[in-house]
Amino acid sequence: MKGILLAGGTGTRMYPLTIATSKQLLSVYNKPMVYYPLSILMLAGLREILVISTPASLPSLRALLADGSQLGISISYAPQPEPRGIAEALLIGADHIGGDATALILGDNIFHGAGFPQLLRDSVAQLAGCTLFGYPVSDPERYGIGELNHQGELVSIEEKPHRPRSHNAITGLYLYDSEAVEIARGLTPSARGELEITDVNRSYLHQGRAQLTQLGRGFTWFDTGTPDSLHAASQYVQVIEARQGIRVACLEEIALRMGYIDQDACYQLGAEMRNSEYGRYLMEIAHSLG
Ligand code: DAU
Repeated sequence: MKGILLAGGTGTRMYPLTIATSKQLLSVYNKPMVYYPLSILMLAGLREILVISTPASLPSLRALLADGSQLGISISYAPQPEPRGIAEALLIGADHIGGDATALILGDNIFHGAGFPQLLRDSVAQLAGCTLFGYPVSDPERYGIGELNHQGELVSIEEKPHRPRSHNAITGLYLYDSEAVEIARGLTPSARGELEITDVNRSYLHQGRAQLTQLGRGFTWFDTGTPDSLHAASQYVQVIEARQGIRVACLEEIALRMGYIDQDACYQLGAEMRNSEYGRYLMEIAHSLG
């Protein structure tokens, strides 16, 4: 399975924060936002990742993440000149996907919770069609919404409904089998001129090949698309890290734990940042996991 991280868009809902920088480079407490979705792809076991962003933001993202070899993965980059919809990522990424299955994640989505890495790896292993992840929210009109019947089967998907049929937001992590690119090629742009990811998901649903996995209590999900949700996500990460003494979305630690890099490489990456608390944490982790 190939990974795609979509980190484009205009970020106008965050102005003036995002006038001069990409939203996905803003800080979520002590790390750039893009670390969080990248950590999810890495935890899912994916090592070939395409980062898609605006032509203006790509150089900064590349300066931050490089070619991924420092993390034992491969990161490539592709531009999305205009925000023509989340599903356009499947077209831009068609060569990268190359007939394989795909995990597409939005660059402003943060997932955290005990057992999530295993749930992800199980979902990847058992993928048949498309797997979506639902999370209960109090403001369903802001999201794609999935409705389940009494048997837990997904029966409808709506994008930002005025009268939501449920409170299950469809989060910005989408697992697709190898047919997603073909489905995206057949889409017609919506009224706002975008290729809607909800239409891809609906197509799988109509074929009877879409599942919604509920992320319930014990999981946390943020779409950090507004200043308030960005602030809430930062607070959450700060509290968890301070209380538990662990790091959320520490890419080098994940690379070490996943066996993508060895202890020496992790220590070295920490030593290069030893002036920061993050760098010192890496040095300690490399030491203690040795
Ligand atoms: O976060 C989950 C939600 O994401 C889902 O529940 C919705 O179904 C889905 O449509 C999406 O809703 P948003 O309102 O968050 O979509 P937005 O247009 O803000 O795009 C989400 C992210 O994707 C944002 O960080 C910018 C990026 N993006 C978006 C578009 C449309 C791109 O990089 N390129 C694009 O063309």
